[in-house]
Amino acid sequence: MSALPLLKGEMMFPSLALLFAALPVAKGSPVPHTSGRDKVLLVSFDGFRWDYDQDVDTPNLDAMAAEGVKAQYMTPAFITLTSPCHFTLLTGKYMENHGVIHNMCFNTSTGVKLPYYSTQGIDSWWDNGSLPIWITAQRQGLKTGSIHFPGTKAKYQGEEVSMKLVEPPLFNYSNETIWRQNIDTAMEWFTVNNLDFITLYFGEPDSTGHKYGPESTQRRNMVGQVDKTIGYLRQRIRESGLESNLNLIITSDHGMETVIKSNEIYLRNVENFTFSDIQFELLDYGPNGLLIPKEGKLEHVYSVLKNAHPKLHVYKKEEFPKRFHYANHPRITPLLMYGDPGYVIHGRYKVQFNAGEHGFDNEAMNMKTIFRAVGPAFKQGLLVEPFESVNVYALLCELLGIAPEPHDGSLEVTRPMLRSSAPLLAAIKLPVTLGIALILSCGRGVY
Ligand SMILES: *[C@@H]1O[C@H](CO)[C@@H](O)[C@H](O)[C@H]1NC(C)=O
Ligand SMILES: *[C@@H]1O[C@H](CO)[C@@H](O)[C@H](O)[C@H]1NC(C)=O
Ligand SMILES: *[C@@H]1O[C@H](CO)[C@@H](O)[C@H](O)[C@H]1NC(C)=O
Ligand SMILES: *[C@@H]1O[C@H](CO)[C@@H](O)[C@H](O)[C@H]1NC(C)=O
Ligand SMILES: *[C@@H]1O[C@H](CO)[C@@H](O)[C@H](O)[C@H]1NC(C)=O
Ligand SMILES: [Zn+2]
Repeated sequence: MSALPLLKGEMMFPSLALLFAALPVAKGSPVPHTSGRDKVLLVSFDGFRWDYDQDVDTPNLDAMAAEGVKAQYMTPAFITLTSPCHFTLLTGKYMENHGVIHNMCFNTSTGVKLPYYSTQGIDSWWDNGSLPIWITAQRQGLKTGSIHFPGTKAKYQGEEVSMKLVEPPLFNYSNETIWRQNIDTAMEWFTVNNLDFITLYFGEPDSTGHKYGPESTQRRNMVGQVDKTIGYLRQRIRESGLESNLNLIITSDHGMETVIKSNEIYLRNVENFTFSDIQFELLDYGPNGLLIPKEGKLEHVYSVLKNAHPKLHVYKKEEFPKRFHYANHPRITPLLMYGDPGYVIHGRYKVQFNAGEHGFDNEAMNMKTIFRAVGPAFKQGLLVEPFESVNVYALLCELLGIAPEPHDGSLEVTRPMLRSSAPLLAAIKLPVTLGIALILSCGRGVY
């Protein structure tokens, strides 16, 4: 990972991180548990926009905020698509550093493109040099499981999450009965199989947001169903005797934007643009597009597309704005493009008819998502400032007491959420020079 800036304390002192992991005194939990470490459940409700609780009655989400921590919102990484954003939660890396740069696995030589579900089973798409937290935790002696979470099905350096449920093809993601069954399964894995960490995924309110749009009654009803399910989940946590030693995080991958159906972007109608100049294309996927022009055609294709539509942004790979942390990866094609909020990109034919979409600029407010946490490690009734999703990974590692892999986040961002938010250094006798070096390196971090 030579592309990763070596700014974070965790990366500069791997041996120190191991030291923390090995010392029982370094555990973040304020409640002493003779029976071992606290457990963590990471839940994702796909496409839950940050403000979806503002026009729906959500008593269970509200109770969780009162009893735990709520972020005003969380900023996903770009590209705001499901698999890339979930892999950022699992690795703490931006897309250009973990390589899962799209929901669709593709091969630019053969032209093969696989849809979301098939891509779940392609190990080489997911295992691109970064280990998801399940594998890291297992290597450090923990037991992990995953239900429907993107990335669950793949093997990483030959290893996989030890207990898993993968949804069948053509799965209906909105069935509340199945949601409850999956919650019951997670509780059983924690109590009977004694797992330490489980990731649990729900495909709503994303599906309903796509189909009916984020401002629809159907979306509001689905948020009501999500809230009821959160009530059920917390009830099952109490009934399973897990309330005092399970930290629950509820988050999501991205938000949702209403698709604008006027003045649409049609590449086939762009003057002097022709698909016969294109060797490979990944289009008709919301507001995003990847293109490889044929030999010698790059400048021409770029110049005809660049100012083709006021809502379309077209870049050469090297010129893609650095703030996205997206384009610096071998899987990114020489040309890439995205539409302004609301504008999707149509290629050869119009095949996109959704009322809602995501994939837009992660700075657009409608791409922001939620973050809530409750449990023994978290403060109560705390509202925190917005933060980037790359920081969730370091928090998970801290909660589990494991040493993280190199990542793009920082524990300093989320440490104020924790009850024992005093720096670990205070509790551990370190060689003075090492301690000072750590303080200095933390102070230099990009928060
Ligand atoms: C694309 O497919 C070709 C032909 O099967 C193969 O040689 C190549 O390794 C593939 N590329 C990637 C990135 O998987
Ligand atoms: C990531 O995948 C790309 C092709 O898609 C390949 O060229 C590269 O070597 C892979 N990197 C790692 C570390 O697996
Ligand atoms: C939901 O799933 C349950 C359990 O598989 C099934 O019995 C039920 O028919 C499903 N409901 C709908 C509306 O599809
Ligand atoms: C999925 O199941 C729900 C009921 O749980 C039903 O209302 C909806 O129409 C189903 N969706 C599809 C695409 O079958
Ligand atoms: C399209 O190509 C023609 C012929 O080269 C040129 O005259 C015209 O200005 C081009 N239009 C645009 C928008 O690039
Ligand atoms: Zn999603």
